[in-house]
Amino acid sequence: MTELIAEIGKTLLEIHVADITTLDVDAIVNAANRSLLGGGGVDGAIHRTAGPELLAECATLGGCDTGSAKITGGYRLKARAVIHAVGPVWQGGGADEEALLAGCYRTALELAAAHRLSSIAYPAISTGIYRFPADVAARVAVGTVASELASAPRGIARVIFCCFSAGSAEHHKDAFAELGLI
Ligand code: APR
Repeated sequence: MTELIAEIGKTLLEIHVADITTLDVDAIVNAANRSLLGGGGVDGAIHRTAGPELLAECATLGGCDTGSAKITGGYRLKARAVIHAVGPVWQGGGADEEALLAGCYRTALELAAAHRLSSIAYPAISTGIYRFPADVAARVAVGTVASELASAPRGIARVIFCCFSAGSAEHHKDAFAELGLI
């Protein structure tokens, strides 16, 4: 369900409350771990829906550093590609967590642009098992995407913040409002 839409240049920024594995977009972002070999949460849901070929491709990537991301095919997902981002585990805020989380959002945009993908959906990276405070994470997510798109639209037409709860959507809406996007 689309909760909100804002615009930055020619790019629509949307907040949805949905299961990200159901979205028909060019790329969905996975909240992965450094091994890229699957896990629980949204990682588990994406691998379950994509099927075993996703894990087989992930196994060829040699893992991924925290704060970065790597791209694979989407296989049985509606999405054409999966961008596996590795968010930081929250350690109280003094271990560069916000910069590392911003790196996930930034790298995912760069990978989408490099692969000419024009629609991308993010889950609320690090706000589940990695315990990142959801309000702080939403501000980092929206702030990073908004500033990256303002400086270089990268041919991206749609960015969806795919929230798994109304509470998560509210945090993203607050971030939109704080940034003057609505
Ligand atoms: N669609 C959209 N969002 C989802 C879905 C889904 N199907 N399932 C969970 N989420 C939401 C959670 O509610 C949370 O807001 O994704 C956000 C991220 O939560 P996690 O999946 O727990 O990811 P994260 O906190 O980044 O922890 C990553 O968990 O699953 C393991 O392998 C993963 O080790 C890694 C760690």
